[in-house]
Amino acid sequence: MTEKDFIPSDPFSSIVPGIIQSEAPSNIALVKYWGKFPNQIPANPSISFTLNTCTTTTTVAYSINSGEKDGCSFEFLFEGQPKPDFEPKLKTFFDRTNKYLPFLNLYHLKISSSNSFPHSSGIASSASAMAALAASLVELERRHHPGMDQQFANQKSSFLARLGSGSACRSISGSVVVWGANKHIPASSDLYGIPFSNTLADVFKDYQDTILLVHRGQKQISSTVGHKLMEGHPYAKQRFKQAHRHLKEIKKVLISGDLDAFVTLVEREAMTLHAMMMTSAPYFMLMKPNTLSIIESVWEFRRETGIPLCFTLDAGANVHLLYPRKHSGKVLQFIKNELVAYCENGQYICDQVGKGTIIS
Ligand code: DP6
Repeated sequence: MTEKDFIPSDPFSSIVPGIIQSEAPSNIALVKYWGKFPNQIPANPSISFTLNTCTTTTTVAYSINSGEKDGCSFEFLFEGQPKPDFEPKLKTFFDRTNKYLPFLNLYHLKISSSNSFPHSSGIASSASAMAALAASLVELERRHHPGMDQQFANQKSSFLARLGSGSACRSISGSVVVWGANKHIPASSDLYGIPFSNTLADVFKDYQDTILLVHRGQKQISSTVGHKLMEGHPYAKQRFKQAHRHLKEIKKVLISGDLDAFVTLVEREAMTLHAMMMTSAPYFMLMKPNTLSIIESVWEFRRETGIPLCFTLDAGANVHLLYPRKHSGKVLQFIKNELVAYCENGQYICDQVGKGTIIS
């Protein structure tokens, strides 16, 4: 597949108003995407668990665009209110995707979005938000071209979501998604995410992710800026190579269910991501003292109980705790007894591996 395959070949024959709703989950990367080339091409491959509970629901009401405006005409409401901070990101998204969705120029879109998780929780909502929007727009195309098959629709949704936010392309499918061409995963692509096609060990099918909300404030450095700092980074070349190697190793682990290897790999990825941030020019740090306290407590809990609880981090201070479902009782007790104290307002969210975006 190339970019050209996503340009529709025939124009719409008729335009009719309608409404589409999509619910897209967030995802948590096991091997991290950090560094990119122009057009949202990742500098290294990544792999993630699709989540289940942390979702964005987006409704797109489309009507005939009677105005003069060139390009896509849209308005955006978040939880019923205008959200001007999100508009530049949407504008960039519509500019980047116009070539692949030229029929949108015929419509006015009223986009309304809401999240299942508390806003300003520090959880990156751009992955679920961009995936939900992209899936709705592909559904709009599909209503005019009912012949479009599901696999192509998913690829195109992921392709478009990527143009909004890289990691969003991993939120269309479940339960494990690979994004970025690499020789260990057949059919992997820089253009879109694909579902992990090997048989997943049973333990991962309902793996738990409890997200500890350590810091809910605005990050001082956005992911977009962080990615850019990988250009000319002294360790970038080695890091990108390492991510390819980690893809190969995690593939084996996801098939075998070797949890010791899983814990080591996932934590090493999280530490490497933050090491890249701490060694950029300029350097920055997104972990907070409570992030480190949680990490130390997790290590101690693992040593004492032998339960394969591990942590990962995205570009922020919050901590994702990953563990097999059968250990939920003990892990949740540990969280309540020891870790809640490190969470802002004692907040955490229980999530688990999920299935991907749903259109209704
Ligand atoms: C650390 O997808 O938010 O979470 O493409 O600029 O929107 P943009 O970046 P984004 O980066 C996510 C980085 C990460 C790792 C990951 O999810 O793989």
